Amino acid sequence: MKIRFLFLIAVIGLLASAAPAIGQDNTPISKDLALTPPMGWNSWNKFACNVSEEMIRSMADAMVKSGMKDAGYRYVNIDDCWQVSRDANGNILADPQRFPHGMKAVGDYIHSLGLKFGVYSDAGSKTCAGRPGGLGHEYQDAIQYAAWGVDYLKYDWCNTTTQDAKASYANMRAALDASGRPIVLSICEWGTAKPWLWGKEVGGNLWRTTGDISDRWAGESKWPDGSCCSNGMLAIVDQQVGLESYAGPGHWNDPDMLEVGNGGMTDSEYRAHFSLWAILAAPLIAGNDLRDMRPEIHDILTNNEVIAVDQDPLGREGERVWKDGGLEVWAKQLRDGSRAVILLNREGTEQQISASWENLGYPSNVSASVRDLWLHKDLGKFTGKFSARVASHAVVMVTVRP
Ligand code: GLA
Repeated sequence: MKIRFLFLIAVIGLLASAAPAIGQDNTPISKDLALTPPMGWNSWNKFACNVSEEMIRSMADAMVKSGMKDAGYRYVNIDDCWQVSRDANGNILADPQRFPHGMKAVGDYIHSLGLKFGVYSDAGSKTCAGRPGGLGHEYQDAIQYAAWGVDYLKYDWCNTTTQDAKASYANMRAALDASGRPIVLSICEWGTAKPWLWGKEVGGNLWRTTGDISDRWAGESKWPDGSCCSNGMLAIVDQQVGLESYAGPGHWNDPDMLEVGNGGMTDSEYRAHFSLWAILAAPLIAGNDLRDMRPEIHDILTNNEVIAVDQDPLGREGERVWKDGGLEVWAKQLRDGSRAVILLNREGTEQQISASWENLGYPSNVSASVRDLWLHKDLGKFTGKFSARVASHAVVMVTVRP
């Protein structure tokens, strides 16, 4: 009897050692996440700390009713301020007034609509809004998130004092994997420690490359405490130049969440914002109130042809291929060999902009079909270059298909 028991123990031990390791880089649990840039919605840009169960539920409903779900948006992400304290055992506690049925109920509701559930925490002792952070509770929090059905964690970088960024995010990825639930890890370190150099290695699925976006066309301005910087949309775009080779399926540069629909830009500027995020293969995380979108805003966020550029399965990030003052050409290679192209006019008056085949990586004698992704219109065949008049603070976005 005793011998049989020992044999059984030995067999179990052998099986366990042959099982895939959980908690190491590239484990089966998280390796196939975010093969195209994540799409969803996040509470911060519009609502900041004003989050509640009721609001999140109604936003999830709106994601379905508005057609955003059909367009590919999946994650409903609660940013900072859902958490208030920890209990005597260190378990993280949601605000009982704002989330009266607890976080699992919110996750269950989101899942019942065929959507996915995201939460926010911070690698330091406190979040940026001063709520309890994850430091020292990584494994405990990961188990809790998994029990709530969390699918996506945005992990911020406030109050981290002397912590090492790479080690901190590797630790959180290991904790998430050990929970046994596949959870997207969104590294929100603002680019300070160049996360594009190590984000993939530590199992990050996306990493912020800059400070926070502001709902305006351009420019940088310092925060009230003198630190740098709140970025206009184009200030963020400029900081993406040179980072394109670090992105690919499962690991994306994140130029921050969308401001489309929040009121600080014109519709034409929002169209440019959305187009540029698509050519950058950026996560498309809407940040507006989905419950009362104007038709123009709805049509920007659900433009299937622009979204297809972002979600192209090759997973190549586009790059700036030409610039002359405020006139620019951006291009992104797509899986079928064609190129998505943006003619961007940052100037104050209408301008003529040309994308030459040479800049797109094609021989100049090739004939290619050009399609306008905002007019939803084939423009015909072109050889050597494509030119268009582009309004002030606007883009023309096309595909060029030889
Ligand atoms: C930081 C992040 C923002 C947001 C806030 C929340 O500033 O970069 O995206 O999550 O914290 O406090």
